[in-house]
Amino acid sequence: MSRKKTVVVGVCGGIAAYKACDVVSSLKKLGYDVHVIMTKAATEFIKPLTLQTLSQNFVITDMFAEPKTWEVEHISLAKKADLFLIVPGTANFVGKIASGIADDMLTTTVMATRAKVVIALAMNTNMLTNPVVERNIEDLKKLGYGFIEADEGLLACGDVGKGKLATPEKIVEATVFEMEEKDLNGKNILVTAGPTVEPIDPVRYMSNRSSGKMGYSIAERAAKRGAKVTLVSGRTSLKVPYGVFKVVDVLSADDMYNAVMENLESNDIIIQSAAVADYKPKTYSDKKIKKKDEDLSIELGRNKDIAFEVGKKKGDRVLIGFAAESNDLIENAKKKIDKKNLDFIIANDITAKGAGFANDTNIVKIIDKDANITEYPILSKKDVADIILDRALSVKQPNKK
Ligand code: CTP
Repeated sequence: MSRKKTVVVGVCGGIAAYKACDVVSSLKKLGYDVHVIMTKAATEFIKPLTLQTLSQNFVITDMFAEPKTWEVEHISLAKKADLFLIVPGTANFVGKIASGIADDMLTTTVMATRAKVVIALAMNTNMLTNPVVERNIEDLKKLGYGFIEADEGLLACGDVGKGKLATPEKIVEATVFEMEEKDLNGKNILVTAGPTVEPIDPVRYMSNRSSGKMGYSIAERAAKRGAKVTLVSGRTSLKVPYGVFKVVDVLSADDMYNAVMENLESNDIIIQSAAVADYKPKTYSDKKIKKKDEDLSIELGRNKDIAFEVGKKKGDRVLIGFAAESNDLIENAKKKIDKKNLDFIIANDITAKGAGFANDTNIVKIIDKDANITEYPILSKKDVADIILDRALSVKQPNKK
C-alpha cells in the first residue's frame, strides 16, 4: 500500500483561524496524515485541543516546549510534509516568509521544508491591497509558493471587500489538487464535453441527453495530473473542475467546431467526448414559429463532423473519440476510428445499466487502430478518465521521438 500522505497545516492568528478546524477535519477524513502547527496568536482564537482532536496528532505551538518525541520537531515535520498548507495566511506570516524571518515554530518549519507551501490568504482588504503585502505575495509566487486567493464579502471587521478566507471546501479541493502526482506536466489537452444545442427559433432547440459528466471527469483528472486543460463545453449544469486552464462555453455544433479549431494548434491530445448533434434545422426562424392545424416538418441539414475535421489536421496529435452506440458496438466503433483518423475510441453501449448519459459510472471498451479491444468492468467516470489518459500517454506517434 502506498504511504499515507502528510499535510502540515499552519494556523496563523486571524479570525478565520476557526475555519482551519473544518479544513483539518476534512483532510483527515480524506485519509491524509494531518499535523498542525499554530502560531501563538492563533491560540488566542482557537484552542490547540480542538485541532489536536480533529487531526489526531499533537498540535505544536511552542518552539521551546518540552519535546514530545526525541526528534527535532520542526525539522522532522518539515521533512515529513508532502504539502504545507497555511490557513489562514496573514499579512504577518507572508511578510516574515518573504523576508526570511523564522522566529517561531511555524515560520521555522516552513523555512526548513522542501515541500510545496500553499497559503490561503485572509486579512482586511486594506492590508491585502497594501503595496508591501502585494509585493511580498508576488515575491513568494515567483519563488513557487502557491496561494489560495481570498474571497470577496463582508469581513469580520465590518468592511466589505476582498479578504475573506476561501471556503473550507475550496481550500480542501486545492489541497487535494496539489497532492496529486503531476505525471501529465507539460501536456496540453483539449477536451470537448456535453451536448450541443441547435436552435430552431428564439424559444426552441434540438439537443440530446448528454450530461457532460464523462468529459468533465476527463478534464478534472487531466488537470489534477498536471496537464494544461482546455475544456470546450456544451451546455451542462456541472461545475468547472478546479485547475482547468481554459473553458470555452459553446452552444451549437458550429460553435464547438470553431472553438476546437481555434484551440487545436496549442494542444497535443484531443479528447472528443461531446455528444455533437449530427443535424441542425436548415433554417433558423428569428420569430417564434406559430402553431397551425396541420403537422409541422423541420428540415434538417448536416452539421460538420468535428472529429473528422480534426482528424484531417492530426499531425503528431493524439486523437481520441467516443462512440455511443445502442447496437453493433465494436463494428461501428471500428468504422469511426478509420473515418475520423483516431488513435483509439472509447465505445460504450448506452443501453447497458450503469453506462452512458447522466450516470456517474460507465462501462467501456477501448478499441485502438489495430483493432485491439480492451474491455473494462463498470467503473466510476473518474477511473475511466484515468484509463483514457494513461492510454493517451502510451500512444506512439510515428513522427514523434
Ligand atoms: N463527433 C463530432 N462531430 C459530430 C459528431 C460526432 O466530433 N458532428 C464526435 C463525437 O464527439 C465522438 C465521435 O465523433 O467522439 C463519435 O460520435 P457518435 O455520435 O457516436 O458518432 P457519429 O459519428 O455521430 O455516428 P452515429 O451518430 O451514426 O453513430
